Amino acid sequence: EEAMKDRAGRAGMLFGVAVRASQLREDADFRAAITRECSVITPELELKWAWLEPQRGQLSFTDADQIASFAARTGKAMHGHALLWHLSIAPWAAEALGDNPDWTIVRRFLASVIPRYGEVTNTWDVVNEPMEMGHRMDGLRPSPYLAAFGPDYIRRALEDARLFAPRAKLFINEFGLDYDFQVERDKRYLLLKLLEGLKKSGAPIDGLGMQAHLEIAKQAHFDPRALAQFFDDVGSLGLEVRISELDVKEADGTLPTAERDARVADAVRRYLDVAMANRAVGTIGCWGLTDRYSWLESPGGKAGANRGLPLDSALHPKPMYHAISEAYALR
Ligand code: G3I
Repeated sequence: EEAMKDRAGRAGMLFGVAVRASQLREDADFRAAITRECSVITPELELKWAWLEPQRGQLSFTDADQIASFAARTGKAMHGHALLWHLSIAPWAAEALGDNPDWTIVRRFLASVIPRYGEVTNTWDVVNEPMEMGHRMDGLRPSPYLAAFGPDYIRRALEDARLFAPRAKLFINEFGLDYDFQVERDKRYLLLKLLEGLKKSGAPIDGLGMQAHLEIAKQAHFDPRALAQFFDDVGSLGLEVRISELDVKEADGTLPTAERDARVADAVRRYLDVAMANRAVGTIGCWGLTDRYSWLESPGGKAGANRGLPLDSALHPKPMYHAISEAYALR
């Protein structure tokens, strides 16, 4: 069977997967599967500020370097995830920014990480999850960055990222945009306003990452027309879309396995039918390749037993895998 990266390639697209350095180090079969299937890999943890610089001034690039050199060795790109994220800011930095809103603290971090991976990384999630409904009219999420610098922190981060990576594509990455709930409709609307404002002000933004963490329990609220409209709106701004963290959280772990896998694949197929119809979408990325390492808990609460990724725990392709490969054939 043709590898996913080759299917993607024939469609003029990419197939991405999040990995951890420890998985690449310790699991030869996994390493082989990643080598075979992916065109781009995303460090799941290793580029986050708290991970890279746990103590001020003490940067540890070992894990990130390993992923970068694996990518280079195997002819893949590395997707840079995620520079500014409220959940991964180094605790010392959050505290320092609270005391003194000094942008050079942020700039020093961006300057130390972005150029280091300039060879292998041509896409960056510059700001991750900037939106949260229910706080402000503009929908921006309260965070150490917003508190210190106001809404302009997003533009400033993009400007700096452009400075340090002149040829890379710069993304804002967001979740909770996929379903027809009021809160998600509001989030789509306000995110579009944000993107529009950034474009108008000349900020260097190239695209939107749609995390696409799907959930079987929400599928009754999947509205392909609303989603298609959103892709259109983003594309109309001249922005590219990456499906950045696709996976499916199951609702019922007691069903027969074949039924569970069929539901997961169906959710993915319906989503990708919409995504593939829009030329703005250039990458499909999953938040993991195999159920062996899923971050999702099973419906019963057991870690690692969710079946929401393309390969099962034995690294065999499941219906979700075929749903993705068939989606590429739509181009
Ligand atoms: O490795 C340490 C371990 O040594 C320690 O004993 C343990 C105690 O908490 O923590 C372990 O680190 C955890 C790490 O995952 C590895 O398991 C961190 O606490 C935990 O915060 C971290 O969670 C990651 C999370 O981002 C925060 O960085 C998830 O694995 C990762 O899948 C998740 O990814 C996010 C994306 O970045 C953004 N979009 C949503 C996505 C899923 O939440």
